[in-house]
Amino acid sequence: MTSAFSWLYSDVVKDHFTNPRNVFSPDEDFKADAEGMTGNVKCGDQMLFMLKVEDDVIKDVRWKTYGCASAIASTSMLSDVIKGMTIRDAYNIKPEDIATRLGGLPDNKIHCSVLGDKALRAAIDNYLEKTGRAGAFRNEGAKIVCTCLNISDRDIEEAVKQGARDWEGLQERTKIGTVCGGCRKEAEELLHDYVHIFGD
Ligand code: FES
Repeated sequence: MTSAFSWLYSDVVKDHFTNPRNVFSPDEDFKADAEGMTGNVKCGDQMLFMLKVEDDVIKDVRWKTYGCASAIASTSMLSDVIKGMTIRDAYNIKPEDIATRLGGLPDNKIHCSVLGDKALRAAIDNYLEKTGRAGAFRNEGAKIVCTCLNISDRDIEEAVKQGARDWEGLQERTKIGTVCGGCRKEAEELLHDYVHIFGD
């Protein structure tokens, strides 16, 4: 193992990367109650998350990704942590909590750890839809970015999923930044991150 690898990643990250938990194998008969897919296949970082749920409690999990070491380690940790959790608690887990459990991630790799989180929330959204509660948790734990118009990071994420790819497209869908304009910098940074994750 090179010294660069040792320097960048904690022992916990290395353990989860080399021995990832709950990875989906096409050979096993895993009957998921819900699935979520996210990522940008052109960047090679697509993620699939599968859940077994009983009475709104996550009983089992599988996932698969073409992501990097940070995405693999983060999702492996996430998949262990959410077993036995309610779908509501799992929906509100923050990528930073997972990064902390991993003993930290290099700064330029934090966005990779978001991939598992997004795929998990897509799977829970899929479960909510199947059980007649579409969008029930959407704004829980959301951060208000545009205080003038009460627009959150989740609204920006949703706008990107609906096709917004630039500032004009985001404004068309949300009207963000059309009052004082003070939210533009933060909103554009989020827009950039979400386009990277969900863009085609
Ligand atoms: S904070 Fe968004 S327009 Fe004022």
